[in-house]
Amino acid sequence: MTFRVARIEAVSRYLTGLTTPFLLTATLMAMTSPLSHAQSNPENSGNREQQLQLVQMKGCASCHGTKGQGNPSMKGPKLAGQNKAELIAKLKAYRAGERNNPTMAMMAYNLSDEDINTLAEYFSQFQ
Ligand code: HEC
Repeated sequence: MTFRVARIEAVSRYLTGLTTPFLLTATLMAMTSPLSHAQSNPENSGNREQQLQLVQMKGCASCHGTKGQGNPSMKGPKLAGQNKAELIAKLKAYRAGERNNPTMAMMAYNLSDEDINTLAEYFSQFQ
């Protein structure tokens, strides 16, 4: 009898050990999955304010500025002055690994087509 209880304890300890990495994986997956946002329709990338919110949320502004002016201290080049199609093509190239830059590969990895559309639309408004 005592032996059985000990076994059950051992098994439950084993299961606890298994569920911890599982939970960690699930949490990480939830954290890294593309965030859903209001402007999911590629034709409608929201108003400027919503676009800026996505820019802030995705962290682009720290290296490229809120107006795409660039940030030399972060080595972020200027995005202003480029049209939407150019910006879309560049972001997709980073995401696909066709253009190789570790920083931008990491930044683009989790962007959906809708995100890319919205971010490109936002930055293309500046000269
Ligand atoms: C940690 C700094 C950093 C962050 C954050 C960052 N970038 Fe960049 N970005 C760079 C650097 C550095 C380059 C130049 C990489 C290269 O040489 O290909 C670059 C290049 C680019 C380019 C290509 C510019 C060109 O004319 O060739 C685009 C477009 C771009 N980033 C958009 C974004 C967007 C959109 C975000 C937010 C999702 C973002 N970046 C976040 C640092 C950053």
